[in-house]
Amino acid sequence: MGISISNRGRFFEYGKWGQPDSNRQPSGYEPPALTVELCPRVLRAISSMPSFWLSASLERKRIPRLMTLQGKTAIVTGGNSGIGLSIVIELAKQGANIVIDYVVHPETAVALEQQVLALGNKAIHVQADVSKIDDLKKLVNAAVSNFGRLDIIVNNAGIETRTSVLETNEEQYQRVLDINLKSAFFGTQIAAKQMIAQGGGGRIINVTSVHEDWPMPGNTAYCVSKGGMRMLTRTAGLELAPHNILVTAVGPGAVATPINASTMKNPSLLKKLDDAIPLGRMAKPEEIASVVAFLAGEGASYLTASTIFADGGIMHSSPGL
Ligand code: BGC
Repeated sequence: MGISISNRGRFFEYGKWGQPDSNRQPSGYEPPALTVELCPRVLRAISSMPSFWLSASLERKRIPRLMTLQGKTAIVTGGNSGIGLSIVIELAKQGANIVIDYVVHPETAVALEQQVLALGNKAIHVQADVSKIDDLKKLVNAAVSNFGRLDIIVNNAGIETRTSVLETNEEQYQRVLDINLKSAFFGTQIAAKQMIAQGGGGRIINVTSVHEDWPMPGNTAYCVSKGGMRMLTRTAGLELAPHNILVTAVGPGAVATPINASTMKNPSLLKKLDDAIPLGRMAKPEEIASVVAFLAGEGASYLTASTIFADGGIMHSSPGL
């Protein structure tokens, strides 16, 4: 048994969408991977719906995935885990070719590369320690030699020590500052030089944190590094504006990733955190990746030198007293 409802030259068949009409679909249209089985009662209800209602709801279901980053090349630092991994997938879904930076766990980088290839894009995994300038150059060179250009860099790699100003030793301080801030500073510089040389502008997106502005006692070096990234975003944004290179940041709140593993493993700490978040929960990494994809795309063409906070409201939470 089947049902076929035509909708301006396109059709929906019981259980699956038909092939799109290639003349009508924007490039990048993909039939939904998910198929929905409808029971006979629902089918009867659908066939008795007024046609305008039906076509509106079909349109909603069929929102085409616009591949706004088609033909662009992006580097994602710290790309094989946590928020970085979700950013790689989201940018690839939007059509970008990706250089996946990683330091450890090559197997996850390889698996991710396969996932991007399966989406029909190109990807390459490159082992590079972004706290070293030569390794950052290696990433930019990989983008240019494999994909011909560099349009987007996401300075995402980051670590934290969860130590206070009294506890933090020199080595911890240096590592946090090098991996979080130095990498973003020189990543911005090296990427911007390539973007200027090739022409056409570009996007530099720093993954900071609510702690670019909001203190986190017991995590001082991390806050210092994120505060530095905030001012890097502001200042480089102004300096690079004449080249149409837009520099922005995404400031996540608490996200369910390995960096927050210690909190997630401790039920009472997790409850305390969830209670402090107006939305009542940590973010999923995809909820940060979608903001990065927005900043990389055409819709963000007038945004520079500023941060979008995706924090479930935590920075503004108040007991109302
Ligand atoms: C930090 C987490 C912290 C969260 C919210 C993140 O940037 O990495 O340790 O829980 O901000 O405060």
